[in-house]
Amino acid sequence: MLPKPKFTALDETLYDYLVEHRSPEDDEVVRELRAETAQLGEGASMQVSPDQAALLRILVSATGARRAIEIGTFTGYSALAVARGLPPGGRLLCLDVSAEWTAVARRYWAKAGVGDRIELRLGPAAETLRALPAEPAFDFAFIDADKRGYPVYWEEVVRRLRPGGLVAVDNVLWSGDVVRPEEQDEDVTAIRRFNEAVLADTRVESVMLAVADGLTLARKLA
Ligand SMILES: C[S@@+](CC[C@H](N)C(=O)[O-])C[C@H]1O[C@@H](n2cnc3c(N)ncnc32)[C@H](O)[C@@H]1O
Repeated sequence: MLPKPKFTALDETLYDYLVEHRSPEDDEVVRELRAETAQLGEGASMQVSPDQAALLRILVSATGARRAIEIGTFTGYSALAVARGLPPGGRLLCLDVSAEWTAVARRYWAKAGVGDRIELRLGPAAETLRALPAEPAFDFAFIDADKRGYPVYWEEVVRRLRPGGLVAVDNVLWSGDVVRPEEQDEDVTAIRRFNEAVLADTRVESVMLAVADGLTLARKLA
C-alpha cells in the first residue's frame, strides 16, 4: 500500500498567509471593484478569490494565451485577471446573463485600461456558445456560471479549444459537499456528475486543485 501523499489542510490563518504571499495585483481598480461587489451582500461570494485571480492571470500569461473565453462574468474580477494575463492584441470573450452585474464589470475594465480587449455577450451561455464558430479556436477558458450548465459549457468549450489549450472550472469541490453523501441537492449532484465526466473525457488531461472552492484545470490533448 502506498503512503498517503502529504497535504496541508487550510484554516483561516493559513489561508490569509497564502493570500498575502501572492504577487500583488491589488491596485486601486481591484480594491474598488472588490469593495463595490461586497456591497451586493451575499451575492458577493460569487466573486473569485484573490489567489484564484492571481492564478488565472499567471496561467494565461504563462501559456501565452491570445484568445480566451469566460463563462460567468458577474462584476468582472476574474475577467480582469484573465485580460491582464493576455498579451497586447489578445482578446477575451465574456458570457453572462446579467446586464446589471456586467455593467459594473464594464466600468472597472475601462478603468483598468483593458476594456478594448474584452467583448461581452449577454444571454444564456449555452445559446451563445452554440452559436460560436469552430474557428478560430480558444487558448484558454474559464467556466464559472450556473453549475447545472457545466456539462454543456464544457462540451461547447472543449470542442472550440486548440490542442494544448487550457480550461479552468470553478467550484468543483462545492464547499466539500462533493464527498458528503448526505448532501444531495441539485447543484452538488450536478457537480459530482460533472467531475466524473471530466475524468472520463479522453480529450483532456486534468487535475483538481484545492484552490478556493476547488478548481479543475484541464489541458486539451493533441
Ligand atoms: C459565480 S458568478 C461568476 C463570478 C465571476 N467569475 C467573478 O469572479 O466575479 C456566476 C455568473 O454566472 C452568470 N450566469 C448564471 N446563469 C447563467 C447562464 N445560464 N448563462 C450565462 N451566465 C449565467 C450569473 O449572472 C453570474 O454573474
